[in-house]
Amino acid sequence: MTETLEKEITQRIEQIYPELVQTRRKLHQEPELSFYEFQTTSFLVETLHGYGYEVHQPLETGCIAVLKGGKKSDRVIALRADIDALPIQEEGEHKSEFLSRRNGVAHCCGHDVHTSNLLGAAKILKEYKDDIEGTVVLVFQPAEEKLPGGGRLLSESGILQKLGVQEIYGLHTSPYHQPGEVAVKSGPLMARPDEFTITVFGKGGHAAAPHMAVDPVVLSGQLITLLQSVITRHINPTDPAVLTIGKIEGGSAHNVIPEKVEMKGTVRTFDREVAEKIRMQMEQTIKAVTEAAGGSYDFNWDEGYPAVVNDADTTEKMKRVARRLIGVKQVTEIEDPVMAGEDFAFYQEHFPGTFFFLGSGSEESGSVYSWHHPRYNADERAMKTGVLILVGLALDSSDDS
Ligand code: NI
Repeated sequence: MTETLEKEITQRIEQIYPELVQTRRKLHQEPELSFYEFQTTSFLVETLHGYGYEVHQPLETGCIAVLKGGKKSDRVIALRADIDALPIQEEGEHKSEFLSRRNGVAHCCGHDVHTSNLLGAAKILKEYKDDIEGTVVLVFQPAEEKLPGGGRLLSESGILQKLGVQEIYGLHTSPYHQPGEVAVKSGPLMARPDEFTITVFGKGGHAAAPHMAVDPVVLSGQLITLLQSVITRHINPTDPAVLTIGKIEGGSAHNVIPEKVEMKGTVRTFDREVAEKIRMQMEQTIKAVTEAAGGSYDFNWDEGYPAVVNDADTTEKMKRVARRLIGVKQVTEIEDPVMAGEDFAFYQEHFPGTFFFLGSGSEESGSVYSWHHPRYNADERAMKTGVLILVGLALDSSDDS
C-alpha cells in the first residue's frame, strides 16, 4: 500500500464516517438475537449487492461476501464481523437517541459496531478493487453469543475452505482502550469457557436427625472447597486455569435436610487437554465425596468455545499494518490473556488468524462499562480505525514490508 493510497483511504473513511454512524445506529435500534438475525441479514445482503459483491448465505442468517481483486494472485484473506445482539434490557442516556426499540434485546457487546465497520470496509474495498491482490472474503457471522456458535457452523460448513481462505482477521470493541488504539497479542488471547452443572443427591430428612439422612448441603460445602484443589493440586501451575461455582441452589427451610443441591459453574483454560483433565478430576472428586456419604451425583459438562490463539505470522502482519496506518504508539501489546471466550476461535482451528481489540472506550461516549452491561456503549470514532485497519489488511501484500 503506497503512501498516496493510505492518504486517500484515510480521507475516504472521513467522508463515509456519517454513513458508518448511521448504519451502526440503525442496527443498534433493531437488534436481533443469535440465530434470529433475519432483518439484519436482509439489510446486509441488499447493501452488499448494491456495492456489487457476490454474496453467499450458507446458514439461515448471516452472509459471506466475496470480492476478487484486480491484481491476479492466489491470496485469499477473510475478514470477520459478528452480527448478533444479547437478551438484555438496554439502559443509558448516552445512547438515548438510538436505544434499542426491542424489549429485552440489545447490542450490548458492540457487534453493531463490528458489522457497520465491516460494511464500511466492504464499501471502500470495492472502490479500490484494482489495488487488491487476490480475493477478499467478508464474513458477516451470526450467533457469536450462543452455543454452538455461528463461528463453528460457518467454519465447519466448508464454504471458507471452498473459497480458499488462507488467513482470517476479526476484531472486538474494547472499553479498556481509547478510540484510535488497537490492542493485540500473539498466542493465547482469550480463554476456553466450559460450563458445568453438579447435582448432589442425598436423602432428605429432619434437620435434627442428620444421622437418618444424607445431607447434600454438607456434601456440597465439601465439594466447593475440594474442587478448588483440582486446579491447585492437579494442574500444572504454568497452565492458566480457573474454576468458579457461580450458582448454588438447594433446600427449602431452616429445619429440613433437602434431597438435592444443584451447583453451576465455569472452567476457563487455554487448552482442551487441561480442561479435560479438570473435568475428569472433578468427576472423581464428586464421585468419591458423594459415594462415601451414601449419596449420589449427576455431573454435566458443556463444552464451550475453544481458546482464541493468535497465529504468530498473521499477528505480525496485523501489527505491521496497524503501526503503519495508525502509528506505533497506538498499537498496544496485550500482556495477559483475557479469560472471556469468543467463537472466533473456531476459525483459528482451520486457518491461521488474528483477533484483536479495537479501542472504543471514552468518558464522553459513556463507554466505561464492560461488555454485556445494560449501559455498554462504544465510542463510534473507533470505526474510523477499525475500517482503516481492515482495509489495510486486505490491501497489504507481502512485498509491502
Ligand atoms: Ni462480543
